[in-house]
Amino acid sequence: MQFHERIRRELDDLRTLDRYRALPDISARNGKEIVFNGQNLLNLSSNDYLGLGDDKPMLTGYIRSFSERDYAMTSSSSRLLTGNHPLYDRLEQALARLYGREAALVFNSGYHANIGMLPALSGRHDLVLSDRLNHASIIDGMKIAEAPWQRYRHRDYDHLEELLAGAADRYRQTFIVTESVFSMDGDLADLVRLVALKEKYGAFLIVDEAHGAGVFGERGLGLCERAGVVQQIDIITGTFGKALASTGAYAVMNSLVREYLLNTMRSVIFTTALPPVILGWSLVTLAKQSAMQHEREALLRLAARLRDALLERGVDVPGESHIVPVITGGNDLAVALAAKLKGAGFLCMAVRPPTVPEKSARIRISLRSTLQWEDIARIPEIIG
Ligand SMILES: Cc1ncc(COP(=O)(O)O)c(C=O)c1O
Repeated sequence: MQFHERIRRELDDLRTLDRYRALPDISARNGKEIVFNGQNLLNLSSNDYLGLGDDKPMLTGYIRSFSERDYAMTSSSSRLLTGNHPLYDRLEQALARLYGREAALVFNSGYHANIGMLPALSGRHDLVLSDRLNHASIIDGMKIAEAPWQRYRHRDYDHLEELLAGAADRYRQTFIVTESVFSMDGDLADLVRLVALKEKYGAFLIVDEAHGAGVFGERGLGLCERAGVVQQIDIITGTFGKALASTGAYAVMNSLVREYLLNTMRSVIFTTALPPVILGWSLVTLAKQSAMQHEREALLRLAARLRDALLERGVDVPGESHIVPVITGGNDLAVALAAKLKGAGFLCMAVRPPTVPEKSARIRISLRSTLQWEDIARIPEIIG
């Protein structure tokens, strides 16, 4: 079969399976609302959990400061060549200070962080143990790494312990990798248990706070802060592209690990550095979010109220965070429910395999602190 014929057929198969993806037309984003494929909807599909992406005074203040600061729109080179702007230092120092850790490293995105870290840190004599529902970027990192990997059942730490016990003495180093707030289920890793296991078995623990940073913890450091284990986790990563309303990602760690990553991590070495204009903006949003405890509390209260209201109508929703999934099972059912909500003015997009496991399609309601209960009060009635 000719190449073009084959890929055309594969696309047709995706359509038949309700898995076909297309770029939406987004003509405007105004605060809580979005004009999506021509329709004005309440945006419940964004990861801007604190509404910082719509903080106009913060944005205009930053833009005004450009002329004085002379921030470039490009770094024109890898950090290891000429792209290492002093703002990288400032941002990494701010992160290390905030987390109270020795060092921090900034990446171009969470995807870059996750595809680069395990391949850099692990080798064929090591083992990686990963939560079964970890994000695609973590899975891609494991696929690139030379180390063998196994998945433990989602949040099943007895299963993880079995694998750790079985691995004892057979590998040079075992790595455990997990999300803190699971992006598609909104449920939480038990970080205290993970730290205990890591210590018992001498494992190296990596926690991805992509959806926890900005939302959990007194200063928005994530679930690791709420659980009181910021110092015990070997590497904590977070993204700037979600609650922190910027672009890029970061990790905190000890200085030795940072030095090693700078020397070995291909997704840091072989890519053009972030532009200074973004690094400066990340410094602004990082400082701003760390003082948004009130907004974090409001967001989690809103999520708990939505969960309770859905439960009252017999809709079982997993998780305990600002990400509220309504699992339909079938792809067609998820698509139909998303369409029904859209008809009522809500943008809650359907999430289908392979983003989530087979037969667990869902709509993912992603809340933000700028919403009031009145904005979403009709949702349980529409779904239930
Ligand atoms: C858990 C997790 N890690 C990493 C990423 C990737 O982060 P970024 O969007 O900054 O590439 C995502 C993005 O959705 C995520 O959900």
